[in-house]
Amino acid sequence: MWIGCGNVDNRIELAGLDPVISVLREAERVVVTSGAGMSRECGIPTFREAQTGLWARYDPTQLASPEGFRSDPARVFGWYMWRRALVEAAVPHAGYEAVVRLGEIRPELTVVTQNVDGLHRRAGSPSVLELHGSLCRYRCADCAAPHPARGLPTVPESGRVAPPACRRCGGLVRPDVVWFGEPLPADALDAAWRAAERCDVMLVVGTSGLVQPAASLPVVARRSGAYIVEVNPEETELTAVAATALRGTAGRALPALVEALESP
Ligand code: OAD
Repeated sequence: MWIGCGNVDNRIELAGLDPVISVLREAERVVVTSGAGMSRECGIPTFREAQTGLWARYDPTQLASPEGFRSDPARVFGWYMWRRALVEAAVPHAGYEAVVRLGEIRPELTVVTQNVDGLHRRAGSPSVLELHGSLCRYRCADCAAPHPARGLPTVPESGRVAPPACRRCGGLVRPDVVWFGEPLPADALDAAWRAAERCDVMLVVGTSGLVQPAASLPVVARRSGAYIVEVNPEETELTAVAATALRGTAGRALPALVEALESP
């Protein structure tokens, strides 16, 4: 089912939410999976938009790979310090609060995110699986010892800044995020897989569904019998898996959904 939100004042057609509300009322276990689109209304760019996406402006092989870091640590570290400053300045929008509220109404709610911005946690969601790591954590690239995030520099967008040295072994400090060619954190991935297999409803918010293994979670959930709801202004690779597609933004569609769920 395809539900538009293109009416004049751009509100979600609440009547169109009815099937989603019905399944959510019956659901015991709910999973919310989110991608970069979830944070776009907080001023954090997505990856794959044609003009403004991060991968249109920056080369992922240079900035999000172990090889890129080894060949120019200051460039890569500076880029992450810029993104960290963006994230620190961001405020979670009403869609984040709606996810928190949904977790209060349906306590068996798991958030699985590809985002490294930590905004689900900051908004107050208690159970968040961060599949691609977090910009809030830093570690040694050699010995993996954690390094405090406090005191790290803030740089302008194009800035270069040398990473600090590990206090244990002197190696270079890097963000604790997953780069291309690296494995995902096994604990988070296993827990996400289990949650996908067991959930009754999965909301798939703001992801293009192009990066594996995260993109398989809705497929796994669907195969296990879950009702899949896509929240995304655009059609994606995952639309075919969804029972309902809410064509609105995360900041509008999620609050509308939870408001409708809470009304008698
Ligand atoms: P993408 O940039 O690939 O996709 C963002 C999705 O968000 C698109 O489908 C947009 O249509 C949608 N979108 C845009 N604005 C939205 C809004 N306000 N509300 C809801 N949806 C909106 O980002 P991801 O799918 O998250 O990996 O990309 C996954 C991974 O690709 C990232 O985690 C990153 C990147 O390479 C690593 O860095 C390892």
